[in-house]
Amino acid sequence: MAVDLLLGLQWGDEGKGKIVDVLTQDYDIIARFQGGPNAGHTLEFDGIKHVLHTIPSGIFHKNAVNVVGNGVVIDPVIFKKELDALKKFNLDVNAKLFISRKAHLILPTHRLLDAASEASKGKAKIGSTLKGIGPTYMDKTGRNGMRIGDLELSDWKEKYRSLANKHEAMINFYDVDIQYDLAELETDFFKAVEELKKLTFIDSEEYLYQAQKAGKKILAEGAQGSLLDIDFGTYPFVTSSNTTAAGACTGLGVAPNQIGAVKGIFKAYTTRVGSGPFPTELFDEDGETMGRVGNEFGATTGRPRRCGWLDLVALKYAVRVNGVTELMMMKGDVLSGFKKLKVCTAYNYKGEQIEHFPYNIEAENVTPVYSEMAGWKEDLTKMTSADQLPKELNDYIDFLEKELEVPIKIVSVGPDRTQTILR
Ligand code: GDP
Ligand code: IMO
Ligand code: MG
Repeated sequence: MAVDLLLGLQWGDEGKGKIVDVLTQDYDIIARFQGGPNAGHTLEFDGIKHVLHTIPSGIFHKNAVNVVGNGVVIDPVIFKKELDALKKFNLDVNAKLFISRKAHLILPTHRLLDAASEASKGKAKIGSTLKGIGPTYMDKTGRNGMRIGDLELSDWKEKYRSLANKHEAMINFYDVDIQYDLAELETDFFKAVEELKKLTFIDSEEYLYQAQKAGKKILAEGAQGSLLDIDFGTYPFVTSSNTTAAGACTGLGVAPNQIGAVKGIFKAYTTRVGSGPFPTELFDEDGETMGRVGNEFGATTGRPRRCGWLDLVALKYAVRVNGVTELMMMKGDVLSGFKKLKVCTAYNYKGEQIEHFPYNIEAENVTPVYSEMAGWKEDLTKMTSADQLPKELNDYIDFLEKELEVPIKIVSVGPDRTQTILR
């Protein structure tokens, strides 16, 4: 049985949490493959809104097991908070939630290093969520990191101490004023580690291999989005993992020839939170409307998201890099009432018109070339089937499908589970 992927095609926050939750009824296992608590995946059902950071978005379904894969980085303190927030739902987390022994740990000092690094950059800062993601992946690739499996060893605290001491020296290297009380942070950390150790740690690549062999249906859940990919994103304004399809292979131990459907998810417009180039960004009333109607505030940091028109140059690039086989368009409802919609179909790049995503998309190099389309005024949020969608929205969808050469199988018309239209 092949493993299907679901991943974001823009700068994150496309609505992955919602769609994974909707799709979980068709899967036996949901497995997160990269990122960490920099992610904020929102689910809404039965009048409840819930945000997950590290725990996969299939957790609310009784039928599914949720796996945190080796490619994920875990902050025990945040993980404990997530577990605490789930308590009221009476989920059997020991039977439903497994963690890879090979996943790396975010230490309190990783978070401090993140803060020091960002503070030292001044105006050039990445706009990191400050969850320690960059420093943790640096320790992973630098072969210094601590893994979940280390927690099962008797000397893990010694390993911790030696790494934390090194980090403290590194924090001092940055000539910035970071106030912290490490003893207090460590008290929380050690307490949270004890909670984490009550969960089931597994060799997740083996577990997933056996599950696949037994015919179980597996959906790999991505975090962030393709334009935040460490290799293919808008470097250096990216995150520190491979958010694209290949990241699911390395982040779960699934071989490339075992990947089935690649489900790519995008908003009907574009948002970005944090710093970095964004060619179709709007600074006018239209952008303000998208932000207000779409409630565009970061699920992890609460920061307002920057908003702009759909960028097809970037979206085509993401579709290709990931090998997307089906698309999902989110937040169509937010565009209701716009008289005209713009879609960026090419870039003016250093005086030349191009249709590919170049090395550098900074504003001094790139201005968007737009196609205009008629908007729709109908409220979509109560619509339940494709035949109710207004003509102008169908034209918008047809145009995108033709440009992207991939079918749009789901149109989402609101944050709730039920506001999901299949095509
Ligand atoms: P993720 O990180 O990809 O899981 O996305 P986030 O949860 O960070 O951000 C998506 C936001 O949009 C959340 O607040 C969702 O509840 C909301 N959302 C998802 N789909 C839709 C939709 O179709 N319409 C509207 N209006 N909101 C949506
Ligand atoms: P989900 O999974 C949107 C952004 C940050 C910053 C950059 C680097 O909810 O889509 P990091 O904390 O990784 O050092 O931040 O990446 N970023 C996200 N933006 N959604 C996310 O996750 C993000 N995770 C990180 O804002 O610009
Ligand atoms: Mg999010």
